[in-house]
Amino acid sequence: MTDQPEHDTDLSNESTAAEIETPPAGTEEYFGAAYPAAQRYAEHLATTGIEWGLIGPREVDRLWSRHILNCAVVAEYINENDVVGDVGSGAGLPGIPIALMRPEAKIVLIEPMERRVEWLNMVVDDLGLKNVRIVRARVEELVDEEMFTVITARAVKAMTTLIEWTREVISPGGRILALKGASVEGELVKAKKLIKRYRLSQPQIHVVDGGGILEVPSRVVEIVKK
Ligand SMILES: C[S@@+](CC[C@H](N)C(=O)[O-])C[C@H]1O[C@@H](n2cnc3c(N)ncnc32)[C@H](O)[C@@H]1O
Repeated sequence: MTDQPEHDTDLSNESTAAEIETPPAGTEEYFGAAYPAAQRYAEHLATTGIEWGLIGPREVDRLWSRHILNCAVVAEYINENDVVGDVGSGAGLPGIPIALMRPEAKIVLIEPMERRVEWLNMVVDDLGLKNVRIVRARVEELVDEEMFTVITARAVKAMTTLIEWTREVISPGGRILALKGASVEGELVKAKKLIKRYRLSQPQIHVVDGGGILEVPSRVVEIVKK
């Protein structure tokens, strides 16, 4: 992003349970022009994000590595003309880090809970993210209303449910990019039948560390709708 807005809300006096993790070396270069906005996002998460119950207080000292960067690396699989639906966005993860990394792509944060949507509106507005839209809904309610070239999700549901919920809002050739933990292989075994039934591609697991920034790499499962 080239034109970052001036911020007139001072977050520095708001109480945090712990110091925000120092971003790992290379984080500033990784975000480039969007780095100040990424820092501002970290401050929102560590203050109102905790106060409003969107993120646990114990996450503050691993905010960059476990949350912001863990999610930002998904952008490596997103093109500038993609329309991304971030399912169960919660505190904007992974949708907001992706929006910062890919200002040309359109990002739709999909979240059913009113309070979370209110927080997302406040933060997206404060960060000046012009490429983000927030939709209050369950993703399965969006059939016939929205279409996405990419669905992202972290910590929402197992792969089988995610496929069932999203397959009708993914355009042909579109993809699911799901951030998953170590249990992903088991989830993919359970999803095998659905993947065949709906003629989806064989899942690819990308292990991605942002060029060495992440000590613990993220695992991104990619499934293509043929
Ligand atoms: C555990 S949180 C994860 C939040 C965020 N993705 C993250 O990684 O921190 C799961 C989120 O999914 C949302 N959610 C639950 N069912 C949903 C549905 N059917 N469609 C969209 N979002 C849903 C919840 O409201 C919640 O905010």
